[in-house]
Amino acid sequence: MNCLSPSILSADYGKLAEEIERIDEAGAQYIHIDVMDGMFVPNITLGAPVVKSLRKYTDRILDVHLMIEEPDRYVEDFAKAGADIITVHAEACRHLDRTVAHIKELGTMAGVAINPATPIEVLRHVIDQVDMVLIMTVNPGYGGQKLIPYTLEKVTELRRILGERGIKLDIEVDGGITLDNVDQALIAGANIIVAGSAVFSGDAAANVEAFLTHM
Ligand code: DX5
Ligand code: ZN
Repeated sequence: MNCLSPSILSADYGKLAEEIERIDEAGAQYIHIDVMDGMFVPNITLGAPVVKSLRKYTDRILDVHLMIEEPDRYVEDFAKAGADIITVHAEACRHLDRTVAHIKELGTMAGVAINPATPIEVLRHVIDQVDMVLIMTVNPGYGGQKLIPYTLEKVTELRRILGERGIKLDIEVDGGITLDNVDQALIAGANIIVAGSAVFSGDAAANVEAFLTHM
């Protein structure tokens, strides 16, 4: 199933609850929460207490994207806070297999993300253990960047490999997705679409509805 996961990174942080209710009512199936530590990426955003507060305002899937070093230290906090999916970066994990197992033991769905320059080869041994792979379509850290075209080739290649191995897996794309290129991402084989600035500039509900017509 194709789903939209609006990224609240581009929302008004002073009104997060209202923003979430608005995109939930407009029909977004997931809510993408970007956690940045100022180390793995240059920016700092929010932590588990904020996820816990936001959990009260929606039953949609809370899709937590951890852009933090050694995320194993915090996955339990995010699981307890109510995250439905916890995605860690392969580049940030010394023991990726252990971290994925840890997330699953907590009863949460596990995702693994890779940066644009990271080859999909690093996913080879974990794709039958995870629930989702996140192919970054920009370098993580900021909203509002332009999609890097070669990243969609990685999506196509990963979908092909999954087909060959008979693995059903969600592929999420994140960064620079707009109404003008969302079809390309879907055709490449992504089925969960993150959109931040394209949703939260202007009327977020109308933008969600416009994206959903492509899904
Ligand atoms: C970037 C974040 C994204 C970001 C996407 O590091 O992981 O989720 O919010 O924003 P847009 O859609 O504006 O590129
Ligand atoms: Zn993200």
